[in-house]
This record gives sequence, C-alpha cells and structure tokens, in this order.
Amino acid sequence: MQIVLAYIKFLLRSTNQHGVHSPFVYNLVTKCFYDRKKYPSYAILKDYRKSLLKDKRKLYIKDFGAGSRIFKSEEREVSKMAKNVGIPPNRARLLNRLVRYLEVDRALELGTSLGLGTAAMAAGNKVKITTIEGCPETATVAKEKFKEFGFENIQLKLGKFEDLLEDRGNQNPKSQIPNSNPNKTENRELTTDNSQPATGNRQQERNSKFQIPNPKTGETVNPKPTTENSQPATGHRQQEKKSKTQIPNSNSTPTDNSQLTTHNRLTDGADLQSVPNPFSILNTKYSLLYIDGNHQKEATLSFFEKLLPTVHNDSVMIFDDIHWSAGMEEAWEEIKTHPQVRVTIDTFQWGLVFFRREQEKEHFIIRI
Ligand SMILES: C[S@@+](CC[C@H](N)C(=O)[O-])C[C@H]1O[C@@H](n2cnc3c(N)ncnc32)[C@H](O)[C@@H]1O
Repeated sequence: MQIVLAYIKFLLRSTNQHGVHSPFVYNLVTKCFYDRKKYPSYAILKDYRKSLLKDKRKLYIKDFGAGSRIFKSEEREVSKMAKNVGIPPNRARLLNRLVRYLEVDRALELGTSLGLGTAAMAAGNKVKITTIEGCPETATVAKEKFKEFGFENIQLKLGKFEDLLEDRGNQNPKSQIPNSNPNKTENRELTTDNSQPATGNRQQERNSKFQIPNPKTGETVNPKPTTENSQPATGHRQQEKKSKTQIPNSNSTPTDNSQLTTHNRLTDGADLQSVPNPFSILNTKYSLLYIDGNHQKEATLSFFEKLLPTVHNDSVMIFDDIHWSAGMEEAWEEIKTHPQVRVTIDTFQWGLVFFRREQEKEHFIIRI
C-alpha cells in the first residue's frame, strides 16, 4: 500500500526533460535515460537472463537484507530468483547505457545476487567491477555465469557488506581512526588472501583457534570459505548442516542442473574471492556505485557514509528501491540533504546521487 501511494505521489511530481535547466541533467535524461537505440550489448543481457530463467537448480539462500516479499522459503529456484529478485530488463539496459554514457571506469555493486545487474554494467563496456554478495550459493551461480559469458572484468567478493566495508583504520594508511570495537568477533574466517600486513584485528584473527596454516605461504588461514555467521542452526538449517557433513561431494561440476539441490554440491569447487579485504574496497575510487542489497534505512545510510570516501567529483551512486518502504524514503531524504550531495534524480525505482561540485544543489524527479 505504501508503495502504491508513493508511486501516485511520484507520478504527480515527476517530469521529463522539459523544465530541466541543468545542462548536465538535461543531457543525461535525453541522451541516456531516453536513448531508444538498440545496442548490441542488449543481446548479451537477454541471453544472460535467458540462461538463468531456464536454470532449475535450487539454492539455499542466506538472507541478509530486509527479507523478501516474494519468497517465504530459504530454498529458491534460480529461475524464480531471476524473475523476481534481479534487476528487470529495462533497468538492466539503462544501467548498461549509464556505464557507457558516464564513461565509468570502475564500479562497485553491493548485492550481486545472480549477477544480472553486474552483467548489465559489464556487457560491451570497458569497466572494472567489484561486486559483493553475502549468500554463498547465489554468488556461486553468479560466478559461474560470469565465466560462461566471458566477463573477465568482474571481481566477485563473497562476504557481508557490513564486514567488507568496515573501516579498519589500522589497515588503511589514509585513516587514523581506530576500530571502535577491536574485540568484535566477525565473519572473517573466510580469508584466503594474505596480501595485507597482519596487524591489529587481522593479527588477532590469525591467532584464532580456527585457523590452519596455509601450506603455500606459511600464513594462517581459516579452514573453510563460508559466510555462515553466529545464527543458531535450527530446523531446515540444522538438517542442512547435518547433510553437509554426511553426503560427500562426488561431482563438483555436475552436468544435470536439476539435480543440484544441496548447498554442499553447489559451493564446492567454487573459487570465489571470499576475502574480506576492506583495504582494497574502501581504498579505491569508483565512478559508479550501485547499492542494491540491504533495503533498510539504517543500512542504506551507513553504506552511503562508508562509501563517500570512495567517490570522486564525477561519481554517481545509485540506490535501488528508494520508495520500497517508509524507512527507505527517509533514508533517501537524508541522503539528499548531505552537504557533499549536489544533484539527485529520483526515477522511482532508483535514486541517483551526483557529487559534482560545480553544480547547484538540485533535486529532480524524472519519469523513465
Ligand atoms: C536485490 S538483490 C541484488 C540484485 C542485483 N543487484 C541485480 O541487479 O540483479 C540483493 C542481494 O544482496 C545480498 N545482500 C543483502 N544484504 C547483504 C549484506 N548485508 N551483505 C551481503 N550481501 C547482502 C542478498 O543476498 C541478495 O542477493
């Protein structure tokens, strides 16, 4: 109901390019938003979606966000997820155009899911993408598809946004802010990357009893790449855990997709980059940041704040589902008032944020 009211309000207040006086926004709307040309990259997006829509595998979903209004169960079919959760085709084409129009060289996505949005950014574009997903099975399918479609410019990181974006001051030479809670225990046991110096928290992790030495480097890493957090295993989940230990994986690259129903089989053999390495994420400048994960007010505001140091004058942040709930609308209003924010565009589904210092602060509501 809230979303219907929000949409009516949006329709009453929105406009097209007419009445837009900012040349930057006018050009963006007319040359990118309303660009009706059919680009060859759209065929790739279509094929990517098609391949997911015929994938009948069932995934065990680890949900970190605001939950799903569509799915009630933790087990979901890839095809149904592609239909209901991923970016819709028209938005995917717009994202594809945006990357091209804004000449995006580096992009960050929070919330890979099956990679529909990531593929939209990558197809036909010269862009390096870092994308983060917390659900191991979902990430595994995305990774598989990126390979299948030859997307070599995508780095998929498996982990919780909150962990990966944590400001671990003692690792970042630019930041003098110490970690506010050095004793916090985190989901960091997934690390396989030992490129960072072991100091502070990381050193503590290495001393943890769960760690085993890495035979190649001699450094300690944890035994299992998993994002399982401290939630107690109950019901279905408990059974899942039992079955994981009981059924040995005989075939990590099965040919019959319909047979893939267990967590164990799907994630085995995956070479996901399961490395919470906030240094590399927060120490990079992105031209486009697509925030499409946890659709809740506090989380959205926190991601916005954390990612601010990673933007430059010509970056755009795109927030998905800004009218999804009252909380998301509040988050959007708060983001608009931030002093670093100059131009915002509300397209109903997305909120686009620009930081161009040369622009007057101005907020647009545009129908696409
Ligand atoms: C709406 S889907 C992303 C859709 C995708 N961007 C697209 O364009 O098709 C949101 C994804 O974010 C992941 N996610 C949500 N909250 C997360 C968190 N806190 N940490 C890691 N992943 C999270 C979910 O597992 C889910 O796959």
